[in-house]
Amino acid sequence: DEVRVFAPATVANMICGFDILGFAVDYPGDEVHMYRVPEPGVRIRSIRGDDGRLPLDADRNTVSACVKALLEHLGLQGEIGVEIDLIKHMPIGSGLGSSSASTVAGLFAVNSLLGNPLTKDELLPFCVEGERLACGHGHADNVAPALMGGITLVRGYSPLDVIKLPVPNELYAGIVFPKVDVPTRDARQLIKEKVPLKDAVTQWGNIAGLIAGLYEEDYQLISRSMHDVLIEPTRAILIPEFYAMKDIALQAGALSFGISGSGPSVVAISKGKEGAEKAAALIQAHLTQCEIESLKYVSAV
Ligand code: HSE
Repeated sequence: DEVRVFAPATVANMICGFDILGFAVDYPGDEVHMYRVPEPGVRIRSIRGDDGRLPLDADRNTVSACVKALLEHLGLQGEIGVEIDLIKHMPIGSGLGSSSASTVAGLFAVNSLLGNPLTKDELLPFCVEGERLACGHGHADNVAPALMGGITLVRGYSPLDVIKLPVPNELYAGIVFPKVDVPTRDARQLIKEKVPLKDAVTQWGNIAGLIAGLYEEDYQLISRSMHDVLIEPTRAILIPEFYAMKDIALQAGALSFGISGSGPSVVAISKGKEGAEKAAALIQAHLTQCEIESLKYVSAV
């Protein structure tokens, strides 16, 4: 028995919805190939595309640790044997939900191998635990869209309540990853715990506006709403050329621009694929001029 699963990269926060909004992209993403073997236990056979950064030890690797947790939950640990090839197609610490994609692919794979004992909704809390292992915090705004696809809203965390939102047809993302490492753990430690009420009012107005814009397919409302006054000012410091990139994207006609997840990747949201491609290409050209290496991805939201 063998299954092959691809799980996509994700843009968490969707600029204004810290820890609650996120969307999946078409590419990049991670792959898990999982094999049922006679000898009980969970083992990592190989990892590719991680530059040797991820542990092969099944207890320390997030993917295998989550697979073990699921088998334990199902009362199957010690009975079932699985081996894993993990193929990473995206950089680690990039703000594209790299750990989530691997975790979601691993959990989806083992669930499939077992004949889908759990629904996607039931699988989600195990994915969230994977995030906690990977970065010390169990946010769901990467794993939810990686597992469910499209745009997701984490309405609540206890209990976990995830809602799929409509995706306007012409919404595209131009993503650029400036090659500097920003671990989510560090990017979270930077954020202030308390926020002024007036900023909170601005932010929840924007979130509500964005949701209304998605339902109405109102691109101007989406554009007016996708601003972040709470997190961006602090995290932008970790991202080279952040405000220059923002100017470039907005001048190129992007609806919005901001940090993807905890960064350093940035995202230009555009109406139409061409707009997203143009914004991402101009941003990348600017980074090249500044002698900063980068990767670029353009995808439908
Ligand atoms: N919401 C999380 C954060 C996503 O911004 O820290 C991490 O990718």
